[in-house]
Amino acid sequence: DPVESLKVRAPVVTIMGHVDHGKTSLLDALRGTDVVAGESGGITQHIGAYQVTTKGGDIITFLDTPGHEAFSEMRARGANVTDIVILVVAADDGLMPQTIEAINHTKAAGVPMIVAINKCDKPEANPQKVRERLLEHEIVVEDMGGDVQDVQVSALKKTGLDELIEKILLQAEVMELTANPDRAAEGNVIEAQLDKGRGAVATVLVRKGTLKVGDTFVIGAESGKVRALVNDKGQQVKSAGPSVPVEVLGLSGVPMAGDQMTVVENEARAREVAAYRQEQ
Ligand code: GTP
Ligand code: NA
Ligand code: MG
Repeated sequence: DPVESLKVRAPVVTIMGHVDHGKTSLLDALRGTDVVAGESGGITQHIGAYQVTTKGGDIITFLDTPGHEAFSEMRARGANVTDIVILVVAADDGLMPQTIEAINHTKAAGVPMIVAINKCDKPEANPQKVRERLLEHEIVVEDMGGDVQDVQVSALKKTGLDELIEKILLQAEVMELTANPDRAAEGNVIEAQLDKGRGAVATVLVRKGTLKVGDTFVIGAESGKVRALVNDKGQQVKSAGPSVPVEVLGLSGVPMAGDQMTVVENEARAREVAAYRQEQ
């Protein structure tokens, strides 16, 4: 579309790594740096994705660590929603089987990686050994003459977080991430469940366009009309633009992670698209 007007969008970041290396702790710590959530008390709200507004006013979208299987499953279904992967490696434990698995998934997805060497507060931490071991998997960090950014952090002591955020923003800038907010929305399901009282609810990451209350849509082979949108702070909103994660209410059934959401002009068209997708 020649008249599409592209605007800068927030990077979408996934954290991966070996079990117990601190993925959840790091996400929580990063979330704690949000200058907006701190004020609204929205910090305890939990959906599968959330946005952090940095001190400089930049926004980063984090996907709650979906597990490697879910990551590759979503990728297999064409939902390459992640722009950047943060590989968490515990500096005491070093490279472990799931670290290597995460490296392979990231390479296969063709997504740039930032290495967060975690637990650097521990006396037995050996970040240099991590960098050396990464070489064996063709991950060459800047210190070793390569171009993969790495940062020493402690999710526990909350050190290195600003530097990690800086590196994410730097990487995002290089990637020139854009989308057109002024069109019918398209997005992907991050997670979905049947909620007591609210019915089928899906957390959708909007990829392009702007999703609005009242929009008619197809998700996977289900159709519906947006009854309400709830943001990651638990607040009802009227719309959600590119890179914004939002809970969508008004679904006819529970879709699967990775399913594509497409806004269409009317219900007749929604039924047509849903029927077509059911045949696939
Ligand atoms: P799974 O989701 O089970 O794979 O684990 P995870 O990678 O999310 O790790 P999690 O955040 O649950 O942390 C595992 C353990 O490591 C917890 O006991 C944390 O308190 C501890 N931990 C996480 N980050 C740090 C850190 O920076 N320093 C220290 N000393 N401990 C940490
Ligand atoms: Na754990
Ligand atoms: Mg965890």
